[in-house]
Amino acid sequence: MHHPLPEDIDALADIGCWAIDRLTCRSETLPPREPTTALPEFTADGIGTAGAWSLLRDVILPSALPTDHSRYLAFVGGAPTVASVLADMAISAAAVYAGSALEGGAVVDAERAALRWLADVVGLPVSAHGTFVSGGSLANLSALVAARHDRTGPDSSVPSIIIAGATAHASVHSAAMIMGCQLVVAGSPDRPLTADDVRRALDPLDRDQVVAVVACAGATNTGAIDRLDEIAQLCATSGVWLHVDAAYGGAAMLSASARDKFRGIEFADSVTIDPHKWLFTPFDCAAVLYRDPERARSAHRQSAHYLDPANVENADNPADYAVHLTRRARGIPLWASLVANGTAAYCDAVERCLEIATYAAKQIEECDVLELVTEPELSVILFRRVGWAPQDYSNWSSHAVRTGLGLITPTKFKDETVLRMCFVNPLTQASDVDLIMDSLSQATIGVPRLPRTGSQRDE
Ligand SMILES: Cc1ncc(COP(=O)(O)O)c(C=O)c1O
Repeated sequence: MHHPLPEDIDALADIGCWAIDRLTCRSETLPPREPTTALPEFTADGIGTAGAWSLLRDVILPSALPTDHSRYLAFVGGAPTVASVLADMAISAAAVYAGSALEGGAVVDAERAALRWLADVVGLPVSAHGTFVSGGSLANLSALVAARHDRTGPDSSVPSIIIAGATAHASVHSAAMIMGCQLVVAGSPDRPLTADDVRRALDPLDRDQVVAVVACAGATNTGAIDRLDEIAQLCATSGVWLHVDAAYGGAAMLSASARDKFRGIEFADSVTIDPHKWLFTPFDCAAVLYRDPERARSAHRQSAHYLDPANVENADNPADYAVHLTRRARGIPLWASLVANGTAAYCDAVERCLEIATYAAKQIEECDVLELVTEPELSVILFRRVGWAPQDYSNWSSHAVRTGLGLITPTKFKDETVLRMCFVNPLTQASDVDLIMDSLSQATIGVPRLPRTGSQRDE
């Protein structure tokens, strides 16, 4: 099982060739293929490594939707660079434990360098640090746990209220639930959170009860950025921890044209930013950054006698800054991609996504049967097909994926079902957008209805 047989060596070699083909032809992988055979039962003797690889290659992986397809525009996709995939494959083969400096060696240094770069992008001070976790959800939870620990009073009174904007990601709701906290929702889902919204939520509360204010730098549904500057000022004067969720949007700080929208994020106590979304690493890789990492460490470091050798004083253990212990070196793909491609390539790739979003918005404006619902603030676009009911959007979306056009899914905005496209893949071209626009303007599927005008709400 642990010694490669000759056929295992062939399978390992084939993986390299397969990965090359896959990365060369990323956009030839839709529609997904229904599995042609049932998955085998586990047996006492197994089918061998080569057999398992054939099933993965021929049956299991082709049935999944690749998020780096140039017309995968649903949710928040991810298009890993070649260097990041290579590093990700190497990490598994190297069997690295990346929870402690004791074992991680230069892996920890490389992850620290990648975190430093992210902290610089955000504008956090040189003292800032953090760790890479599996996703924005765990990053948000880890930051809020650190905030609560920091706010726990000398009499051990534990704060239990989190304030977040109405556009906050679902993971903030789930973090509050996991922590047994009350979530006070401020503002409106139709617009970014303002300092006045936060003030209204804060005023009736005892400050000692407040864990943190969570602001969003790039709402998942719309791309909207909360008024970070004024919220940061309010949090500073009120002595409240500010966590900024920039899981999706943070990458746009690399764009000279978008950077100004994030003014104020540099004052946050903690920030979530996900390289697996718009910074081109494989899943899973999300960073949680702290202005003062010591405060996070005192919340998160796990203690046990068997860990004492790793927990020596001043050890900078990646495990110490989040809700985890054993961890994959998931920051290494970001490090490898940055060192391989250079930071300028990152700025260009993010800019490219913003440009293609602007192009798509323009095409929608010029099309008789499509209407823009929100101007793209970052790279998310919401739009309607005139005359369509919710079922029509679902029908078209299923049809689009079945026929290999792409994955473009509906959402709701102001109670109306609309279409949403999120551009985080620099491989997406104007021609991809044109194909989608053509399909939408010519679509005859769905229930024919009289055209509706304006932002008519769903019944
Ligand atoms: C703003 C925001 N926060 C948090 C998350 C959760 O991140 P993950 O899915 O990596 O856990 C997302 C995911 O889309 C997001 O857009």
